[in-house]
Amino acid sequence: MPANKTPNILSQQRDERRFSPSAERNRVHIYDVIKDLVPAEGLLFEVASGTGDHASWIGPQLAPLIWQTSEYSPEMFPSINSHISYTNSGNLRSPHHVDVTQKGWNLNEDKQQEFDNNIDLITCVNMVHISPWTATLGLMSGAADFLKKNGVLYLYGPFIQNQIETAFSNIQFDISLRQRNSAWGIRKLEDVQQIAKNNDLTLEKVIPMPANNLSLIFRKTSLSKTQTSSLA
Ligand SMILES: C[S@@+](CC[C@H](N)C(=O)[O-])C[C@H]1O[C@@H](n2cnc3c(N)ncnc32)[C@H](O)[C@@H]1O
Repeated sequence: MPANKTPNILSQQRDERRFSPSAERNRVHIYDVIKDLVPAEGLLFEVASGTGDHASWIGPQLAPLIWQTSEYSPEMFPSINSHISYTNSGNLRSPHHVDVTQKGWNLNEDKQQEFDNNIDLITCVNMVHISPWTATLGLMSGAADFLKKNGVLYLYGPFIQNQIETAFSNIQFDISLRQRNSAWGIRKLEDVQQIAKNNDLTLEKVIPMPANNLSLIFRKTSLSKTQTSSLA
């Protein structure tokens, strides 16, 4: 049994962990990229934690950095909390309910203030193509507010790149996504980059990943709206 699946004997909670096969495949590669993007002590905010797999496997390796989970779908909360409990690493935080299409990502005023210009790294794995385009718009706008200056937004997933032939598996995946929900679909990297740019997030690096996915690293290069207004 891998170390992170050893039950925390102090916890009497039911095991409600769910496991995502794709997260179990990609987490080692994602860890390799994001470990170099965070300070030893800082704050990482995970948008769309899903089952909680990434938090429980990557999170402890980045301690004492705080890993704040979040999720849109309330039905995933027990799994995320159960992963956190079983992992028993002091740096993992229970999920906030986040809907990136809503102002302030639907966080309450106190949380919005707590995170405002305070996050070192925001991660968002496999959400952009499995949500409406408005989710990408809201993700970028919120990231611009919540990241520290020089903080990073990390996206992982499939994207369509100009001048690079799209893998057949991604073309098929795109068709199946749109059949499931006409608002979903694999996005063009240049469209995502433009929305980021509109929010003062600069695409710094594109890293090819296994299974025709990409890691995208966006950096917040300017002062955010609130910081700028406080200087006026
Ligand atoms: C395919 S799952 C990926 C989950 C996890 N990141 C992973 O890689 O296993 C897509 C995720 O997008 C999230 N999502 C969809 N719409 C959202 C929204 N409006 N705000 C925040 N998250 C959203 C879902 O709740 C879900 O966690």
